[in-house]
Amino acid sequence: MTRVFSGIQPTGDLQLGNYLGAVRHWVEVQETADAIFCVVDLHALTFAQDPALFRAATIRKATELMAAGLDPDRCTIFVQSHVPAHAELAWLMECTAAFGELRRMTQFKEKSEGQDSVSAGVFAYPCLMAADILLYDTDEVPVGEDQRQHLELTRDLALRWNSRYGDTFVIPKPVIAGVAARVMDLQEPTAKMSKSRPNPQGRIDALDPPAEITRKIKRAVTDADGEVRYDRAAKPGVSNLLELLAVARNVSPQSAADHYSQYGPLKTDTAEAVVELLRPFQERFAALSGDPGYVREVLAKGAGKATAIAETVLRRARESIGLVPR
Ligand code: AMP
Ligand code: TRP
Repeated sequence: MTRVFSGIQPTGDLQLGNYLGAVRHWVEVQETADAIFCVVDLHALTFAQDPALFRAATIRKATELMAAGLDPDRCTIFVQSHVPAHAELAWLMECTAAFGELRRMTQFKEKSEGQDSVSAGVFAYPCLMAADILLYDTDEVPVGEDQRQHLELTRDLALRWNSRYGDTFVIPKPVIAGVAARVMDLQEPTAKMSKSRPNPQGRIDALDPPAEITRKIKRAVTDADGEVRYDRAAKPGVSNLLELLAVARNVSPQSAADHYSQYGPLKTDTAEAVVELLRPFQERFAALSGDPGYVREVLAKGAGKATAIAETVLRRARESIGLVPR
């Protein structure tokens, strides 16, 4: 059976980009693969967090994943820091990665540029991510387009390790969906939709009330030429709306465009489609929020299952690199 692994940071509410670019595919793949999903709390510590809010955010993210349709009977859901093997293998990955290749990571450049000081964790981040993936003998990693470079690094590190120390790790491959693999900001459609962008009007949170979703989409930035056509380079704003409409309706963005000659009706229908797409998520989230004990139970069980796999692979890695067995 194909082993699938992916992760999401706990900070920030689930936004439409996470949902369409990643989580939606996780819900599908749990039906056919041995799927493991992780709330990567250690990754979020690359920036200082308020402890109480951080703890709550981790539980909330797990709740959001379950509301989105991850079913604890069909997949494993756990919190990264509950499985100490992640931190341990991350160190071994840091000693495998070259300074230069980490410095070239786009995400590191974006997150460190213009900052007075960033943690060493921001720099080492991709090594922890590689450890996450390699610990589970992962075949496939479903992620949004922005994670492609990190996946390439993970593959390079695994190949390097295997050639130095002998066959130890399965070489994972990224699975990046075509439509909506990169959902763009509604106010600045050349930037990806993200919790870290300053203007919340450009972002749709999966828990936004329907009226707010509608308002944000109606105010989305388009362009002046007035033609509805799918062309991401020349018409980023309109193309982003077409992609949202297309995933919601399960058609291609090109064919979605055929039905419109004006931006107004395109926006109205896109808003309606996104509201309907998120409705079941919002209903399930409301139900699950009333039962935090259940979510914690799921995470405890998930950590148990994850630990069993991770410990086996970690033992293999420790042995191959020459650490004395404990
Ligand atoms: P993060 O919230 O950064 O931990 O991202 C979790 C997942 O959502 C990753 O697989 C990302 O690639 C994906 N993702 C985040 N933002 C977007 C976006 N704007 N469009 C598509 N996928 C995204
Ligand atoms: N870096 C990913 C992001 O920001 C999150 C992540 C951490 C991840 N570890 C992972 C994704 C392992 C896939 C597999 O979105």
